[in-house]
Order: sequence, then structure tokens, then C-alpha cells
Amino acid sequence: MKILVTGVTGRVGRNLSAALLARGDTVRGLVLPGDPGLGSAQAAGIECLVGNLRDAEVGAEAVAGVDAIFHLGAMMLWGDFEQNAVLFEDNVRGTFNLLNAAAARATDLKRFVFASSDEVYPSLSAEYLPIDEDHPTKPYSFYGTSKLIGENLAFYYHRAISLPATVARFALVTEPPEVTRPDGWLGRFLFVESMIGTARAIGGTEAAATLEGLQVDPKTLLLARDAGGTPYMFHYCDVRDLVQGLLLLLDHPDAVGEAFNLSGPVPFTYDLAIPYLSEKSGIPFVEVNIPGPPIRIQHSIAKAQTVLGYRPQYDFHGTVDAALAAGDVKR
Ligand SMILES: NC(=O)c1ccc[n+]([C@@H]2O[C@H](COP(=O)([O-])OP(=O)(O)OC[C@H]3O[C@@H](n4cnc5c(N)ncnc54)[C@H](O)[C@@H]3O)[C@@H](O)[C@H]2O)c1
Repeated sequence: MKILVTGVTGRVGRNLSAALLARGDTVRGLVLPGDPGLGSAQAAGIECLVGNLRDAEVGAEAVAGVDAIFHLGAMMLWGDFEQNAVLFEDNVRGTFNLLNAAAARATDLKRFVFASSDEVYPSLSAEYLPIDEDHPTKPYSFYGTSKLIGENLAFYYHRAISLPATVARFALVTEPPEVTRPDGWLGRFLFVESMIGTARAIGGTEAAATLEGLQVDPKTLLLARDAGGTPYMFHYCDVRDLVQGLLLLLDHPDAVGEAFNLSGPVPFTYDLAIPYLSEKSGIPFVEVNIPGPPIRIQHSIAKAQTVLGYRPQYDFHGTVDAALAAGDVKR
């Protein structure tokens, strides 16, 4: 099959396109102008189209002649109103432009997979855990809102003209090396330095002040507990598992018209995860009871397991082991 992957140079796009090429598919990748990843995508054997999905003509050019589409291209930003405008143009208008072009070829397409996010749920104030696909979708970020609009657009085209669309709600996705760095996508939730910013972003002024008051190297790992001593809990998806889920969404007929949580096999709790990462990496950790709302995130992947046969392999230990096997510990 010839498969379009938007966002092909990103964290997910790189790993997904490698898996598609390995199984004999042809990949066309959409790459933003000026993206430094263009050369390595071309070297990997990807047919690259340079363009921005804000432009409707790029959407039409991208979908011409392909059999299936993974729409991963999007901005991930959390902040002020200016950033909301960027999210609207790239994520909402960009998704509309691609879907509208794909819809014109709906009968030729095997699948349109839309990369959504667990941020369509109010994850930090969930009505129940684990969060399944029936949990109310009430995003608290504009990013999550942009993803919910994208889902609705995809389902509209499915209902109205039978576009074979499916939606994947990704948990936070990490490549293994990112776990050992404060600026890594998952590492941002594991180190004192980066958790100060996270605490501020989720409205925890008191929590940020507590962490700022610690007399430790900011690159220290953080064993976070809530005020009552219960360890924080986090659910993410190792990109290797996510790729397995995405391939199932492409291949399984029952994926069409449905949304699926794609997350790791189990969430991790900080009391088990942080000492393990510390022992394996040699990075020290500090244990802190943090005031304010805790992080307790847990997804249900039962629907993906039952309907698609999704079998994620990598828990926190598995991601850490892969990171350290790759020799990647940067402090
Ligand atoms: N990484 C996560 O934790 C996570 C979690 C939930 C959902 N997602 C979603 O998964 C997808 C892939 O995530 P990732 O981690 O690979 O992100 P990434 O930032 O590494 O890659 C995203 C890619 O999209 C491209 N892009 C952005 N705007 C574009 C536009 N207007 N036109 C064309 N290309 C554009 C960027 O150039 C980049 O290469 C995104 O849609 C993201 O919102 C990611």
C-alpha cells in the first residue's frame, strides 16, 4: 500500500514510517518547510512532500494516489491566546484541509487514522478511573479542544460520506531515551526542574513553591506524593507500543468509525518507578509530599485490546531498560 503520514519527521511519524517501510508499504511523508528532519526522512526511503496543511492545496496534493492516511501532523502547545491561534490554524484548519481532500477520494481509501489525544478528557479531574472511551470529553486545554474538533470532523466525514475514519486517543507518547532527560517528553514529569513548570501549568502555585524550595540539584529525580502521601500515578505509551496500535487501526476492519485509547500496558506509580530509574541510571532522587491537586492518570485500553487485539509490551521498567541499553543517560 502507499500510505500518507503527515508529521512524518516527528516522534511518532519517524517510528511509524520505519514500521510501514519494514513491512513493505510505500510511505509518502508530509514535511513542513524548513524542517531539519527532511534529509533523514528522504534517506530512510520516504517520498517527501514539503508543505503546510494550513494550505488546502497541500492537503489535496498529499492525498493524491495514496491508499491510506495517518494524520499525525499537529502542533502541541499549551499557553496563551497567541498559541491558541497557532493551534487553530495547524490542528483545526490543517485537519479540515486534509479530511476534506481525503473525503473527495473516500471510496479509494482503506483508512484515515486521526491522531487524537487523552487531552480530550479532563484527565486531571477525571470523573472515574481508569478513563475509558465513554468518559465525557471535556478538554481543559485548547490543544485538547483542537483534537476534539478534529475527531468530530473525522466522524462527520465517516457518517456523511463513509470515509473509513478511525480515531486514536494517544496517552503521552515517549521514545525510550526521553525518560532519562528533564527535557524529554516523559522526563518532564520525572525531574524536579521540569515538574516546577508542570506544577505551575496545572495551577499548583503552592506545589511549584514547594519544589522551588528544595535544596537539591534541579536535575534530581522527583518521587512525587500528594499531601496525604499517596504517590502520583501516570499512564503513558512507549512509542513502540503506539506503533503496534496504529498498525492495528490501519488493518482491522472494526476500527472504522470508532475511537480507541492507545496507552501503555499499565500506569506507573512514582514510588516504584522513580527508585528504579534512579538505581539504573545513577541519578539521585528526592521524595516530596506536594500540596494541591495530584497527578493521577490511568487509561483503560480494554477496547483496543478486545476489538483490535492490541497488546502493549512496555511498562515503565521496559522503557527505562531500553533507554539504558541505548546508553542514553544525559544529565
Ligand atoms: N507525543 C505525545 O505525547 C502525543 C500525545 C497525544 C497525541 N499526540 C499527537 O500525535 C501526533 C504526533 O505526535 P508527535 O509526538 O510525533 O509530535 P511531533 O511534534 O514530534 O511531530 C509533529 C509533526 O507535525 C508537523 N506539523 C505540525 N503542524 C503542521 C502543519 N500545519 N502541516 C504539516 N505538518 C505539520 C511538525 O512539523 C512535526 O513534524 C500529533 O498529532 C500529536 O498531537 C502526541
